[in-house]
Amino acid sequence: MTKPFNAKKIAENVYWVGAIDWQLADFHGYKTERGTTYNAFLILGEKITLIDTVKRPYMEEMLSRISSIVDPTKIDIIVSNHAELDHTGCLPEMIKLAAPEKVYASPMGVKAIDDLFHGQVKAEAVIDKGTIDLGDFHLTCLETRMIHWPDSMFSYLNERQLLFSQDAFGMHLATAKLFADENCPDLLKRESDKYFANIVLPYAKMVGATLTKFKALNLPVSMIAPDHGPIWRTQEDIQKVLSWYDNYVAQPFTKKVVIIYDTMWGSTQRLASAFAEGVEAEGCVPRVICLKSTDRSEVMRELMNAGALAVGSCTMNNGIFPTVADCLTYIKGLKPQNILGAIFGSYGWNLLAFEELKAYFEKAGIPLVLPNVQAKMIPDEEKLLEAYENGRALAKELLTKIS
Ligand code: FEO
Repeated sequence: MTKPFNAKKIAENVYWVGAIDWQLADFHGYKTERGTTYNAFLILGEKITLIDTVKRPYMEEMLSRISSIVDPTKIDIIVSNHAELDHTGCLPEMIKLAAPEKVYASPMGVKAIDDLFHGQVKAEAVIDKGTIDLGDFHLTCLETRMIHWPDSMFSYLNERQLLFSQDAFGMHLATAKLFADENCPDLLKRESDKYFANIVLPYAKMVGATLTKFKALNLPVSMIAPDHGPIWRTQEDIQKVLSWYDNYVAQPFTKKVVIIYDTMWGSTQRLASAFAEGVEAEGCVPRVICLKSTDRSEVMRELMNAGALAVGSCTMNNGIFPTVADCLTYIKGLKPQNILGAIFGSYGWNLLAFEELKAYFEKAGIPLVLPNVQAKMIPDEEKLLEAYENGRALAKELLTKIS
């Protein structure tokens, strides 16, 4: 039955019934200028099964898509692969509507759902590597803790070799093209990088361990269906996104030096430019970002595959500039690895901003490998040359990590 929003078939008896959020601009502090999708999937087996739901305001869209192929009250089982509210926001209402026989989640998922909905949702735990029997189909479940919540779980549809991977391998990208191979490859790489850098990065080591555990199961995978963004259905794309994830986990040093700064009267901006010249002179790649015009989530996308971070701030009210503090707070929480650090900036009558910058680097675990460049008021040529030489020195140090 044709509806305003219709289900899309992704495999025999398996349909995408999610929602497209064309307007999402901010996902808890991560700027999502391309919107997102909340993917939910319906398996039309002996037991009609819904994999995940959508953010609460998008329930009507999901119900429309489900209704285009089956009466939603016929759903027998709901599997919650991830408890965050973009996937469970309408779970209590869905349960009220469909009255499913069972709601399944990981053991930590059951706890998270209980904490979120205070007893409104009674979920049953499926153990790690346990199977949910759907009659003619079977779902093998795998705990994937900290990709990116403790409850996170993969579910694998044995009969279709289809991996429902929740947030893993996803991205915030609103697109009417459901499959990755229908979208621009460069855009997918950019948005996948940005998603991992802004959501999953602090847990990169645990992601590596989980992916090793998953690969050891030797399950053939013909499709990866994440909870956000396009579905990976070709072997080429599946191998590509797996290799991206290997790289995200390893975070090897690269020649890119991210230089972020903010400035009041242009002094710190001039230091940033001179620093970048020095970086380039040694064969590394400066990426200069003024925090007036670029937000913290874009900085993280750049930083995840960089080798060094140089931060410049003017002094304001005995401390660092607010945009710099904002960005460093964010970086400190996301904990990028294999990054060398450097500091530069300008001041009027005290050096307190430099102490503050140093403390941020310590908390982020980014080693400072050079003396600061500290310019009183306006940097003269000698001070600009010092910034240039620091850029060169940072690049040289970085190259020793790469070769
Ligand atoms: Fe897409 Fe962690 O929620």
